[in-house]
Amino acid sequence: MCGIVGYVGARQATPILVGGLRKLEYRGYDSAGVSVWSEGQSRVVRCRGKLAALEDKLVKEPAPGTIGIGHTRWATHGRPSDENAHPHKVGAISVIHNGIIENHLALRQELAASGSKFTSETDTEIFAHLIDRAVRGGAPDLTTAVRQALAKVHGAYAFVVMNDKDPSTLVAAKNASPMVVGLGDGENFIASDVTAILSETRRILFIDEGEMVTVTRDAVVITDFDGKPRTREPKVITWSAMQAEKGGYKHFMLKEIHEQPRAVADTLVGRVDLERDDVVLDDVKIDATKVKRIIFVACGTSYHASLVGEFMIEALARIPVEVELASEFRYRDPIVGPGDLVVAVSQSGETADTMAAVREAKGKGAQVLAISNVLESSIPRLADWAFYTHAGPEIGVASTKAFTTQLVSMALFAIYLGRRTGKLAAPRARELLAELLQLPTKMKDVIDHGAQLQVLARRYGNAHGFLFLGRGAQYPIALEGALKLKEISYIHAEGYAAGEMKHGPIALIDEHLPVVVLVPRGPNYEKAISNLSEVKARSGKILAIATRGDTDIGSTADEVVLVPDCPVELQPILTVLPLQLLSYYVADFKGTDIDQPRNLAKSVTVE
Ligand code: G6P
Repeated sequence: MCGIVGYVGARQATPILVGGLRKLEYRGYDSAGVSVWSEGQSRVVRCRGKLAALEDKLVKEPAPGTIGIGHTRWATHGRPSDENAHPHKVGAISVIHNGIIENHLALRQELAASGSKFTSETDTEIFAHLIDRAVRGGAPDLTTAVRQALAKVHGAYAFVVMNDKDPSTLVAAKNASPMVVGLGDGENFIASDVTAILSETRRILFIDEGEMVTVTRDAVVITDFDGKPRTREPKVITWSAMQAEKGGYKHFMLKEIHEQPRAVADTLVGRVDLERDDVVLDDVKIDATKVKRIIFVACGTSYHASLVGEFMIEALARIPVEVELASEFRYRDPIVGPGDLVVAVSQSGETADTMAAVREAKGKGAQVLAISNVLESSIPRLADWAFYTHAGPEIGVASTKAFTTQLVSMALFAIYLGRRTGKLAAPRARELLAELLQLPTKMKDVIDHGAQLQVLARRYGNAHGFLFLGRGAQYPIALEGALKLKEISYIHAEGYAAGEMKHGPIALIDEHLPVVVLVPRGPNYEKAISNLSEVKARSGKILAIATRGDTDIGSTADEVVLVPDCPVELQPILTVLPLQLLSYYVADFKGTDIDQPRNLAKSVTVE
């Protein structure tokens, strides 16, 4: 994935680049580097490790100058090392890159055979060689040289290139990796996303697939890869820069957990019509009566949200739903076409597998709705319609507020469909909509009781494994609880459908295994209690997530966490909160790197 930043203007570039990279570290943190031009040539400073290591290095090796590029890396080709860190410099050409050049092996052989010397294992260095050759071969300017090099590579990329011989210009190109240009006054910016430059400008140009941008202090010229001009109006971004800061919390993840009531309220704004017992989705022009089947495609936490969406839509709209892991869907020649509505769920809107699944579905004639948190990101732009969650920027790698706002979006969408298929009567819709509006208050109530989870985290945080069990719409929440714990505390955890426990995981249960059982009141309650008793009979330690007012559960469970009552369709939005807090506090107790867990990245733009 990787994060990229570029600056050209009158101010010192390095602090602006480093400030931007700090906001982009969620995209990867294996190494970082800058290349900044002054006095005839650019100086590259780069090193393995997080941005802090680069900052230390810059103290000893300052990089002055008013034009430059910066990069934070998530390794794809070549291990994390100083040599593989970007920028890569060949001759006068410095390059940063997010993505993968798919034909890198053939190009490397070709270049090596004709004399190029490589100093890294990266695919990116190949691109620097190609541009260097184009410049030396007589390309009239950097833009032309980049265009010539682009004709030779294929894959996913967002590149920014700087030439020591033309130190007033940055040239960027984008294909399947995100890129924005920020417009300043006598200065301009390039970045992977808006948060990186939000403190500098709010006027943003979103760059499309297959576009190149030539950026100087006073001008931004967008063309396609053939050099044909493209015009674009800037969008003004209204997020506050503070929304992207930690705001006094120890970690972004904790801040984002606490932001959920607000994020859910924001996602509901303007979408609930209590007078008509309906949902307002102005930008979504789907004829629900013609939808024969809905197929969700997603990865990670968004996949779990989709599993809850399946439950909600089948219950409220009675349309058949399938949920697919995007990485599996696209490679098996899926049976999909007209009459199918594919719903791509992606917080970032950039996940490569989800994007490829969308392309596959569109290519076969299906209609596509994107549910995303990032305005104008690639997946919504590829889709026929976009439904945005309004969680605000999510920085912690472990997704929290993006998940609950996805669940709320699923509920709104299910009600919207149900009203149009005629399967959801007005009084029930009214009840659900009123309950949705109550959710922020109930969520705050659960989060305000977070101290209990801190106590449980200390009590059980030394366990070697955890099991999470749930039925119906609580099954995906069990999966999500296990995923959260694994990603940030590195404790092995499994989520299981409670009824399946006796087909395998029951063998794991002994007095050392904490088992988190989701047992809110509802049609599955009695059955879930039976599963809980099966755990108890084998001396497992039971942590039950139950509904407030449940006075029976305490006789079976070792620990009971209570959440407010609400309709069964909406319960996942409340029951997931204690699981987020539990994994957060376990990880904090263990002292892991919560916001940037090892080996992970927030946005996975490689397949
Ligand atoms: C990564 C992130 C997860 C996220 C998944 C899908 O694995 O660490 O938090 O759920 O990607 O990302 P998306 O942006 O498509 O929702």
